Amino acid sequence: MNSLTNLPEWKAIKSHWQTLSKRHMRELFAEDPGRFRRMSTEAAGLFVDYSKNPVTGETLSLLLDLARAVQLPEWRDRMFSGEHINNTEDRAVLHVALRNRSSRPITTDGADVMPGINTVLAQMEAFTHALRSGEWKGYTGNQITDVVNIGIGGSNLGPLMVAEALRHYQSAGLRVHFVSNVDGTHLTETLKPLNPETTLFIIASKTFTTQETLANAHAARDWCLASMPDDAAIARHFVAVSTNAEKVEAFGIDPQNMFIFWDWVGGRYSLWSSIGLPIALAIGMANFYELLAGAHEMDEHFRSAPLAENIPVILGMLGVYNHNFNGIKTHAILPYDQYLRYLPDYLQQADMESNGKGVTRDGLPVDYSTGPVIWGAAGTDGQHAFYQLIHQGTQVISSDFIAPVHSHNELSDQHEKLLANFFAQTEALMKGRTREEAEAELRTQGLGDEARQALLPHKVFPGNRPTNSILIDKLTPRRLGALIALYEHKIFVQGVVWGVNSYDQWGVELGKQLAGVILKELEGDARPELHDASTSGLVAHFKALRGKPAAE
Ligand code: F6P
Repeated sequence: MNSLTNLPEWKAIKSHWQTLSKRHMRELFAEDPGRFRRMSTEAAGLFVDYSKNPVTGETLSLLLDLARAVQLPEWRDRMFSGEHINNTEDRAVLHVALRNRSSRPITTDGADVMPGINTVLAQMEAFTHALRSGEWKGYTGNQITDVVNIGIGGSNLGPLMVAEALRHYQSAGLRVHFVSNVDGTHLTETLKPLNPETTLFIIASKTFTTQETLANAHAARDWCLASMPDDAAIARHFVAVSTNAEKVEAFGIDPQNMFIFWDWVGGRYSLWSSIGLPIALAIGMANFYELLAGAHEMDEHFRSAPLAENIPVILGMLGVYNHNFNGIKTHAILPYDQYLRYLPDYLQQADMESNGKGVTRDGLPVDYSTGPVIWGAAGTDGQHAFYQLIHQGTQVISSDFIAPVHSHNELSDQHEKLLANFFAQTEALMKGRTREEAEAELRTQGLGDEARQALLPHKVFPGNRPTNSILIDKLTPRRLGALIALYEHKIFVQGVVWGVNSYDQWGVELGKQLAGVILKELEGDARPELHDASTSGLVAHFKALRGKPAAE
């Protein structure tokens, strides 16, 4: 029996919620004029308003009691001090070291990791300079104009999201592309407009064993060699980012062209390492350092701010509260910034691969819910797609609204229009619309009694939907770094409360293993006895159709 739900601090929140759940946030706002002032805060250039959650000052103090009871500060210190908190893989968790812009040494297993980090940063800097200046030439002497990152999961989503978020900072002469899917369409369509003589591939894989990445890497090599049939071309057009030097060499990439990182960097926390190379190439090393600096600012805040003022702690504990006590199982990420449109996808992996766990660190089944479903899309597109369900659906959904105060692209009053929607949505989600208000509105529209009564139920909004609002002065590399680090630490906080190891991902293994078995069958004889009837039937059907010409 797991002890979390038996903690007095957990039980105290449960009984507090029984009372508070009967209150509407409208009332909480009405009775406390200081609510916004007290329930909003700022750190590392991010202004966070969490007042539109169904909480009072007492709730927050009970949540912090729980944080202390699960030893959150101690776990945080263990992470920063390089302890092997990833117990199932026996590894430290030190992505914070990658952006440690102070001179403070960070040690694990008795060694300071900072000199190694700084060496790789210097290597990235030199390569970034060489490529962007045109000093680095392709095999036929042409300058590189296109970089294709081949990687998947953490070796794709972070760099993809950041490169897009910072598109404003990209230099016009160098385009960055991302290929992740083993579906040949992804690589084929990406390469169609490109010229092998001016294209550089980054093969990004922590393990360098990932099937999708290696298949795409081999296909990219064939594409390159088809027009430059000399193995020497590979040295000018392929670099690798990995922890596995042996496999990189076996693939045929010159070790000189390899950028390393370390096993204490989790894939989904790796954009700060050499996995960030496509980011650095796209926006320049100075901007990449700014990204690191912003994350470092947030790290320092997380490491030293008192719990009651600590933004990742507050957002993490509110998330636990909404998930475990308020029963909210899905959380939407809603950036009101087109540049942040991949943020929901990125956070999906960061959060769901980290906290989608059903056993504790010690392998005991949990008797409470962990990891919410994370999803979302850029506003206002989302408003015209799925917000209906958030407003009036039967399941309550919590959301984070994120927006910059200043846009990089101020067209007329379009930013005001965008932000008007941002503020209006969080207001509507909190307040809802009562029967009386809806009826009054219908009256002003001159509807007769019968028509009014028929429409009324459809016009009522329950409200009381929790939201957090995050305002960023401007989407700069530094602010983006802080924003991402905020979410990383929020995930950490929740993992500590739920007692899970947020840094392994055994759950993705089974599908990979079975795919290996099935691939052999697709390429050879099917073995129906290996599977259930459905899987065997589907494999047989596929093979039968593969033997016939495709429909035109
Ligand atoms: O399958 C999930 C995963 O292991 C992720 O955790 C990781 O980010 C991704 O695959 C890619 O792994 P690699 O960088 O080793 O190719």
